[in-house]
Amino acid sequence: MRVIIEKTAEQAELRTAGIMADLVRHKPNAVLGLATGSTPVKVYRELVRQHREAELDFSQITTFNLDEYVGLGAQHPQSFRYFMQEQLFNHINIDHAATHVPDGRALDFSAHCQQYEQRILDAGGIDLQLLGIGVDGHIAFNEPGSSLGSRTRLKTLASETIRQNKKFFPGDEQVPRLALTMGVGTILETRSCLLLATGAHKASAVRSMVEGPVTAQITASALQLHREVIVIVDEEAGGWLERRDYYAEVDECHQLLETGQLRALGIGNQ
Ligand code: GLP
Repeated sequence: MRVIIEKTAEQAELRTAGIMADLVRHKPNAVLGLATGSTPVKVYRELVRQHREAELDFSQITTFNLDEYVGLGAQHPQSFRYFMQEQLFNHINIDHAATHVPDGRALDFSAHCQQYEQRILDAGGIDLQLLGIGVDGHIAFNEPGSSLGSRTRLKTLASETIRQNKKFFPGDEQVPRLALTMGVGTILETRSCLLLATGAHKASAVRSMVEGPVTAQITASALQLHREVIVIVDEEAGGWLERRDYYAEVDECHQLLETGQLRALGIGNQ
């Protein structure tokens, strides 16, 4: 797990968008895993900007979103499909048929979830999965206690998640209690993950994910088992990390390697 600590949320968002944009440029037919929530909003804004101003081309890109509320259709302003259309898909040259979000109004959830997994496989697997993290350490809607081998499925939301979501719905009884979500096992099979967390309210979850034990109680901690994960945080979200200095050194070395400044790393010095 590589941890990058940026000074501000804006820098963390731009760094995240930069990594995604690099992939889109180097692999124009990449398969992206996408996330919703407030955290990635500015990441999508930057991708839209690069599409408009720097010819970032999404015409061959395929996307799979992590999750969707059960009961909400694409026209519901709080559905994740609606969010993705508004924040990203409507503003870039992506083929609508190549954008996948679980269908919260599917008639047979179990069959739909199996199909979703199959579609990911048929697309060749996810190259890069963008992730956020819940304050209780969940990824997608894999609430505490979710099996670390879980696949896309129907999930009952935790009371903490429902509480957090109340602000988005006019009445308490309208807050969805169920969701369809990729499983932890599904996420672990992606080729790489990019998790973005910003703000002091995420500091505890980030610490548990990166430096705590691997446990189903903090499903993001399963990312410690993934071969290729980059965690990008701002100083607030990274504030509880004990090995902050080491992560900064690793990041500096990576940047020197990427820019070919090998001497500074003692490579090639006699
Ligand atoms: C929900 C989503 C997650 C997201 C989390 C954090 O639970 N299913 O994918 O990471 O919220 O959301 P926010 O970015 O708004 O803090």
